[in-house]
Amino acid sequence: MRYPLFRFAAFLLACVWPLYWLAQAVLDALGPDPGKVLVDRMGQGALVMLLVTLCMTPLQKLTGWSGWIVVRRQLGLWCFAYVLMHLCAYLFFILGLDWGQLGVELRKRPYIIVGSLALVGLLALAVTSNRYSQRRLGARWKKLHQLVYVILGLGLLHFLWIVRADLKEWTVYAVIGGLLMLLRVPSIEKRIPRLGGRKRVSVTKVSN
Ligand code: HEM
Repeated sequence: MRYPLFRFAAFLLACVWPLYWLAQAVLDALGPDPGKVLVDRMGQGALVMLLVTLCMTPLQKLTGWSGWIVVRRQLGLWCFAYVLMHLCAYLFFILGLDWGQLGVELRKRPYIIVGSLALVGLLALAVTSNRYSQRRLGARWKKLHQLVYVILGLGLLHFLWIVRADLKEWTVYAVIGGLLMLLRVPSIEKRIPRLGGRKRVSVTKVSN
């Protein structure tokens, strides 16, 4: 296994946040509506994880270090895990597991449909993120995983629908997401300077 310490650091950094929020909830430190705070924090955590995952390829190009690509899959799976926790927190704390209310909720909060589409996209990426699927799908794997940019767009739309007027936080995420998308445009990607002295490696060939 390559870069075990770096992998472990990424693992710790990703799992410490949900544990911290859960501890805060247990200690009654999340205010009068801890369930809603948990839903929001897990949602923002998912968006941050998605953006961090998308930083890995440009960082590899910039530094020439393949460690970034080695943790990329793990971070993507963490993003999926955060979305699942976000969904569970919503079903438990906001819906109260009252399935009969789901139809009313979807009419009241149509942005949930947008979030659900993003979740389905993330599920497709998560189940095909292993090396077996990569080998089986060949060139189609790369195409399928470009879906991540659609998922980012859906996540941002979902968030925008919720914040509406207070756009400060949303704008920060949208600008970072927009820059990361620009960096994948081939003519711009080619111009990323290389700071590291090591040879460039193919980002799809590096083992996950
Ligand atoms: C089945 C899927 C999803 C459901 C049911 C869902 C539901 C919700 C709900 C109920 C809220 C709280 C809205 C409010 O403040 O009243 C929320 C907020 C949020 N969700 Fe989702 N969501 C889903 C998927 C996603 C995905 C895929 C992402 C990102 C990749 C995401 C990111 C966010 C963010 C950033 C917020 C705002 C947090 C804040 O206000 O601080 N959600 N979501």
